[in-house]
Amino acid sequence: METDHRIVTGDSRSLSKIDDDSVELVITSPPYPMIEMWDELFSDLNSKVAEHLENGDGQAAFARMHEELENVWKEVSRVLVDGGIACINIGDATRKVDGSFRVFQNHSRIINAFEDLGFEPLPELLWRKPVNSGAKFMGSGMLPPNAYVTLEHEYILVFRNGKNSRSFEPGSERRYNAAYFWEERNQWFSDVWMGIKGELQALEQSELRERSAAYPFEIPYRLINMYSVYGDTVLDPFWGTGTTSFAAMVAGRNSIGYELDEEFVQLFEERVEAVPKYSREVIKQRLDDHKEFVEERLAEGKEFKYKAENYDFPVTTKQEKPIQFHSVSNVEQTDNGYVAKHEPIEGTEVHITDDKRAVEVASLSDF
Ligand SMILES: C[S@@+](CC[C@H](N)C(=O)[O-])C[C@H]1O[C@@H](n2cnc3c(N)ncnc32)[C@H](O)[C@@H]1O
Repeated sequence: METDHRIVTGDSRSLSKIDDDSVELVITSPPYPMIEMWDELFSDLNSKVAEHLENGDGQAAFARMHEELENVWKEVSRVLVDGGIACINIGDATRKVDGSFRVFQNHSRIINAFEDLGFEPLPELLWRKPVNSGAKFMGSGMLPPNAYVTLEHEYILVFRNGKNSRSFEPGSERRYNAAYFWEERNQWFSDVWMGIKGELQALEQSELRERSAAYPFEIPYRLINMYSVYGDTVLDPFWGTGTTSFAAMVAGRNSIGYELDEEFVQLFEERVEAVPKYSREVIKQRLDDHKEFVEERLAEGKEFKYKAENYDFPVTTKQEKPIQFHSVSNVEQTDNGYVAKHEPIEGTEVHITDDKRAVEVASLSDF
């Protein structure tokens, strides 16, 4: 299997290099309106933003910033297939403008924009972010009534393009092979995500991470597995350091990214070298977690009714039987991005021991 990853250095307010109805999933995190680190960018996109901020008119600045994002949402609705899903990671902003402190609710503004474009909102996820500082509280200390609640979550808003879900031919292999485990479903489709941490190592120490506001790999990786099948194309119109494309490579989907900042696009070249090894680690982790789950259930005296077709381990439901993992064997640069080659992970690498009480997952690190 091969996947294609296109990167466009350019402005996603016009996705002119992407055909209508050619993308199955959008995963993105835009610059957050009214968060100060993005003031300059929004002012570059629309000079009125700077004027409103200078005049202390927070609401007008907020509205202008969202108007710029709405140009991108409009393009998203054009390129996304009917029934395709858009996942938007966004946080609200708290800010004092012209002497008055308030919250600017980015998430509700984005919900309205998507509804106006004919998207159907689906239940959203709350990403609970770890905040460990005792100094995080704002306002009048221990004295009522003028203290403010601290925002410790972000949203992952989920929209479907149009009223109908995508349909597939009966028994569609690329869909059935893309199944996830029952226990993964229970975690991923639960509406509050906690304990997700860590951007990719290559970014950890760098100043780049702060400048990019990159999200952790786990966010796009889960969403890709939840809302797309093998062979699909995932678009990120605010690509940043390319975490979405990185996750798409690991998950065996195609990707397209639009990014204004050329430096990020160049830096992706270094990150991409890590994809083959990282893909094996991610799959090994998923298999190890499944092994632990199976062992716990067996220890509790529970039985498994089904066995995976491509692996020698049990699964909870019939739908998981065709599950098929692929690792990335090689990534090559092309004129406009990268091509990743994927190898199926064969059943011999994963097996249950004779007494059917334990599952052994052989090390995946050496193939
Ligand atoms: C919050 S960051 C995305 C971070 C990304 N999720 C990651 O993991 O690295 C938003 C990105 O959108 C880019 N951006 C903002 N406006 C844009 C536009 N109109 N077209 C393309 N990129 C844009 C910024 O340069 C920034 O890198």
